[in-house]
Amino acid sequence: METRLHHPHETSSNEARDLVARFEPKALRTYTPTQAVLARSAGIYHWTPEGRRLYDFTSGVLVSNLGHNPIRWMQRFMAYMGWPAPSLRIPSPDYFDALPMTAYNAVTGVEVEASRRLAELLQSRPGGRCLQQVMWAASGSEAIQKALWAALARDHTREMIIATRYGFHGKKGLAGAVTGCETDHDRDPRVRFISFPMAECADVSLRGKPFDPSPYRRELEALYQQFGRHLSVLITEPYLGGGGSYHPPKEYLQTLQHFCHEHDLVFLLDEVQANFGRTGDLFAFETYDLEPDIVVLGKGLGNGVPVAAAVGRADLFGTLNYGEGSDTWSANPLCCAGVLATLDEFHRGGPGAAEGGPVRRRSAWRERRHGLGRGDARPCRPLGRRLGQRGRPLLLPGRRRRRHPFAGSVGEESSAHCAAACHHRAGGCRGDAPDAPAGDAARSGSLERFAAGSHTNPKRQRGTGPR
Ligand SMILES: Cc1ncc(COP(=O)(O)O)c(C=O)c1O
Repeated sequence: METRLHHPHETSSNEARDLVARFEPKALRTYTPTQAVLARSAGIYHWTPEGRRLYDFTSGVLVSNLGHNPIRWMQRFMAYMGWPAPSLRIPSPDYFDALPMTAYNAVTGVEVEASRRLAELLQSRPGGRCLQQVMWAASGSEAIQKALWAALARDHTREMIIATRYGFHGKKGLAGAVTGCETDHDRDPRVRFISFPMAECADVSLRGKPFDPSPYRRELEALYQQFGRHLSVLITEPYLGGGGSYHPPKEYLQTLQHFCHEHDLVFLLDEVQANFGRTGDLFAFETYDLEPDIVVLGKGLGNGVPVAAAVGRADLFGTLNYGEGSDTWSANPLCCAGVLATLDEFHRGGPGAAEGGPVRRRSAWRERRHGLGRGDARPCRPLGRRLGQRGRPLLLPGRRRRRHPFAGSVGEESSAHCAAACHHRAGGCRGDAPDAPAGDAARSGSLERFAAGSHTNPKRQRGTGPR
């Protein structure tokens, strides 16, 4: 948010408002000069971090019609889920004291923390320097839609989108429009599709062989000749997920990115499926040595809690005005708590991240190297095949051991160096946030271990990519 809303005697709330203004775009909420910060809620009341009690005449903006945190509802809910009964702090016979389940147009501590930590984490990874602000969404397709809105809002004369053929970005709205190919019915005239190297992916004998990107480059240039400055954004997946688990050569994705940088298109990477370890690194942009302007995360982000996010350049997200990316569920406390728990677990190498990690990494390695269902050239395969032949999990006898993507540690100095490099490289990030000073990410100190990859392996240092 642009305008810093401060109120006297609200030190904690003002801090939360400042952080949310830095790590989230203003579009995520409708304008309100109060912008309440909520520490806890029960029944019809909210309390601010300063202990001020507020009456909620809106029922969480038409959501909590039973009041905030009703005990019997929570007991039923947990029983349906099979969760163990909680011990609740009970201020009244009917309601307990906790964060509200919805905080539409208000701010909660978990939201601030989730936005800050996610943005700082992404920026600390190789290739993540432009990922400055978090635009929350309730599903992957919604996050794609918001990311495309932001890219298109940059310049209303640049209304055209390039998408790679056979991708899957969701079924609704613009996410549906960039999914598939031009022969599907109901195409959006703003979308142009370009070739995906299906043949190279399907023929496993070509794996690891030199890849010639020139036909793809020519195709892109032909589009530019035809539409020039009308082209605004290019969206692609790191690998075709819904389209059959086809992993393109790195050079293909880098060619797309290079074209975007040459012609000032937004490079939008859809990692809804590929994030959180599925390609071997924490994020797929690391695996493919990419530096997206916007990355879209989902699925594993909440480990089951429905949450997604577009994370990208602050200047792009800043093109959307108040309310243009807001909705009932985005950044609600439940989702933010889910994200924080996911980040915590990856940070500490919890069961999924540590013991399960190698399984995922080997699976991902095998998929990238051999594709799935070797020799099967059909463009779409049943999802079950992703588990391996005859339903066996993809466990190969250990070949090349990869470094644990989340292992190691890095000090404040090197994180600060990264942030500074981002800020001061030629032209900076194509849209550095004016209010995001270099090195701030480093100062939080909570993400050092995540940042290891960028400093322990010089090949993975920023700036070694094609850009
Ligand atoms: C790469 C990719 N993008 C977007 C989506 C859409 O996400 P959602 O189903 O949460 O809308 C999916 C879903 O499978 C996906 O795999």
